Amino acid sequence: MCGIVAYTGSNEAYPILMKGLHRLEYRGYDSAGVALMQSGSITLYKKRGKVSDLEDYCLTKDTSAHAGIAHTRWATHGEPNEQNAHPHLSEDHSLALIHNGIIENYLSLKKELQNRGYVFQSDTDTEVLVHLIKEVQQKDNIPLDEAVMLALSRVEGTYALAILSVDNPDQLILAKKGSPLLIGVGDNEYFIGSDGAPIVEYTNKVVYLEDGDVAVVSLENPLRIRNIRDEHALLKNPHYQRLEMTLDQIEKGGFETYMLKEIFEQPKSIRDSMRGRINLKKEVVSLGGLIEYEQKMMNAKRFIIAACGTSWHAGLVAEYLIESLVRIPVEVEYASEFRYRDPILYEDDVLIAISQSGETADTLAAVELAKRHGATVIGICNVVGSTLARETMAGSYTHAGPEIGVASTKAFTAQVTVLTLMALSLAQRKGTISKSMYHQLINDLESIPEKIERILAKEQHIQKIAQFVATRPNAIFLGRGINYPVALEGALKLKEISYIHAEGYPAAEMKHGPIALIDEHMPLIVIATEQLTYDKIVSNIQEVIARKGTIISIVTEGDTTVKGMSKFCIEIPRTEELLTPLVASVPLQLLAYHVALIRGCDVDKPRNLAKSVSVE
Ligand code: G6P
Repeated sequence: MCGIVAYTGSNEAYPILMKGLHRLEYRGYDSAGVALMQSGSITLYKKRGKVSDLEDYCLTKDTSAHAGIAHTRWATHGEPNEQNAHPHLSEDHSLALIHNGIIENYLSLKKELQNRGYVFQSDTDTEVLVHLIKEVQQKDNIPLDEAVMLALSRVEGTYALAILSVDNPDQLILAKKGSPLLIGVGDNEYFIGSDGAPIVEYTNKVVYLEDGDVAVVSLENPLRIRNIRDEHALLKNPHYQRLEMTLDQIEKGGFETYMLKEIFEQPKSIRDSMRGRINLKKEVVSLGGLIEYEQKMMNAKRFIIAACGTSWHAGLVAEYLIESLVRIPVEVEYASEFRYRDPILYEDDVLIAISQSGETADTLAAVELAKRHGATVIGICNVVGSTLARETMAGSYTHAGPEIGVASTKAFTAQVTVLTLMALSLAQRKGTISKSMYHQLINDLESIPEKIERILAKEQHIQKIAQFVATRPNAIFLGRGINYPVALEGALKLKEISYIHAEGYPAAEMKHGPIALIDEHMPLIVIATEQLTYDKIVSNIQEVIARKGTIISIVTEGDTTVKGMSKFCIEIPRTEELLTPLVASVPLQLLAYHVALIRGCDVDKPRNLAKSVSVE
């Protein structure tokens, strides 16, 4: 949801800003812009399209500067065009501003400003900020950071802001509420980013801004941070932290795309997510971040899982895991629905928020709501230091490493791994799992990375199946039990990156409507691994074949029944039923990937999407 980069220091700002934008492009890529401080005035370049379009446009332009701000946009208000691209300028061109978030009361503010004679150049909510800040600064004749604090006290919504001002050419003013922003501290130079990716190449000393913070970054004075919630507006001591990220992690490492790299990283990311959490003798599972809250979790009357997108699918898998192993009821909620539903929440409820980025606005709102009702709030997230990690009472990180491809792959399997460990740990302490079952699951869990390696080796076979699927306008994914969420995830992967319309269903639901869609043109991708309901799935497949549908199946190695009924079949290693989502999801990721490639789609940056949805 928009990426922000800014720089001030003695180096050339433009290359740093552009490299930073490329690294944040997963956050949005419908237009991009940069404002550079050149000889005491602001030069603005903006372009519709991707960051590379802006770069091409700037090839013939003067880009020399030592301070600047840059933005890659995911449109919320106003279509993606040059006018609506950030940065936005004050009328006298003395301020340039970039924004990630949504200003909810922008219409009333805009009307007010228009009544006072301001003429807007864009349809964005952001432009009100720059005019409001300038107006407050001029009217009260106060320093810019104070004007920002005053102006923001009138603003409702979420923001991460960076402002460049001709009055202090090497200074940047930053503000944060609800959208992420961090400052990388170099040797008398500063690197600002929506996350660590634009910063890690230069420094690993960072300050994560907190909600309400307004920071003044300048080369003459030390970093100054105040919080608009503090009525005395006292200076805060910056809390310097180490950025937990390496450059290799955010580069493609020889793969053609981030998505393919991330699919192939899964054996490692799953191992990393298990590391140190199962003791040497394999007798105890323990998630360090949850120890303090384990008792509360064991005594919970109910778990509520809130998440969005792929993380919601991981939540559905967890529902099966927790109910089956821990015997505590689980409800899985779309965070966006939960927050507006006036839900019934008790103090002995435990809300588990799952998020790769830790910045999804709806998931964070669900966390706030649950906290207000006195429930225990646990986070499962991938990005160290993200808002979710800070706003939850306890939690556990998935150690997937940075995920850059917009379609989530390794984060999903890492989430399922951590949720499995969590369920096993609770079940063990609660005594709801037999020793033999516990050992069976632990041993199998430890063998998952190697099983995924064997599936990845089948990439060429999956590529051939992709040739077939790529020619179809629709696809249906079927699964039952714990593999029903895998069917949903398979359909989501296919539609989001290849733009083929796809639906996921529990196989038995076919009869209640979707079966009407089946004819010789419809491919059905069925997860039919060895499981309790295997025979039922066989019947479901027969119903499809009777209507001339084409079966593409994911089966357990050695299967003959379903294989015999399928046009294409992908065999995967035998796995405990409760752990099959970890393996069955991988061929579906590869299938979606190759279908998208064949159809000429940009797999890392699918149209209209962004990786981190920090707006509602
Ligand atoms: C976006 C991404 C998805 C992701 C979802 C939730 O829609 O494109 O890949 O699953 O947000 O994101 P989160 O960071 O909360 O897991």
